[in-house]
Amino acid sequence: MKEYVERLEGGEALSSEALRSLLVMPDGDASAYLQECARRVAQSRFSTSVYVRGLIEVSNYCRNNCYYCGIRKGNPEVMRYRLGKDDILECCRHGYSLGFRTFVLQGGEDPRQTDDFVVDVVSAIRALYPDCAITLSLGEKPREAYERFFRAGANRYLLRHETYNAAHYCQLHPAEMSRDNRLRCLHDLKDIGYQTGTGIMVGSPGQTVDDIVADLLFIRELAPQMIGIGPFIPHHATPFALEKAGSVELTLRLLSILRLMHPRALIPATTALATLSPEGRNRGILAGANVVMPNLSPLSVRQKYELYNDKAALGAESAEGLQALQKELDRIGYRIDYGRGDYV
Ligand code: 5AD
Repeated sequence: MKEYVERLEGGEALSSEALRSLLVMPDGDASAYLQECARRVAQSRFSTSVYVRGLIEVSNYCRNNCYYCGIRKGNPEVMRYRLGKDDILECCRHGYSLGFRTFVLQGGEDPRQTDDFVVDVVSAIRALYPDCAITLSLGEKPREAYERFFRAGANRYLLRHETYNAAHYCQLHPAEMSRDNRLRCLHDLKDIGYQTGTGIMVGSPGQTVDDIVADLLFIRELAPQMIGIGPFIPHHATPFALEKAGSVELTLRLLSILRLMHPRALIPATTALATLSPEGRNRGILAGANVVMPNLSPLSVRQKYELYNDKAALGAESAEGLQALQKELDRIGYRIDYGRGDYV
């Protein structure tokens, strides 16, 4: 196993079988070694710094009905909201004053949040904050929409592929959605010039180790600038309410493998990881992650963007909690980096 780790670190493309064995190896010397190498590789690029991104959840309306997601169209319990332009700009103003230099506009696929609206908001943020990066995470759109957002000044786009296996994709999503369209979007985004992020939920219902291997090979091929992975966490009002959560340990293992395969990638210690385990964020960083995305949404809507049970949005997971976050990072000898943190 240690040999596989060294070959990964050396930039070699491991076979599916080798990746599989890294994923299933028992905890022990080799898995500790994997994590040490991943941490060293992350530190050699990013030192002991962690980039922060201000996450603005712009709408929880969604036309999709993904079986895992709390804000799916078919969940009647959600109190729906949609931020207006002024609300979003106010979040940016607040975020900028706190030190954020990346704003992430994330939302459901809200049919009433038109492309024109997004172009208008992105243009306004671009004009007001020329030194900031603008990241969008608004789901699947036609290529023309992605092009318009890019021309308006957006720099980055996050769109997890969720799973590369088309049959597994169908277990997670209703028939109107397809893996192929998701992949089309990702290729368009990269082609247009976005710093593009993709990723998966670890331990989503029906996921096998071979599925994860296929995800690793897909991510290797796509070579995204950002990779977001977090454990699946059930949401009480979804068809997956009674499914069990993904494993923190496997998520950390995957973070380390991804760090070795993508030494320069921007990889967050996700909110889902922090939600599932009190030490999740710090453990993610020690496994090779180098980004945290504190919640910058207005407090009045924060509880309404509930993708999964008990989603963390306060304390060190919040924009107001940057000092708390720094205190947490102090415990592992890391510090917040307030730079834009582009992919280099
Ligand atoms: N558990 C964990 N992650 C989830 N996401 C959506 N629902 C859940 C859940 N129940 C993730 C998806 C999506 C991202 C915005 O949040 O991977 O791409």
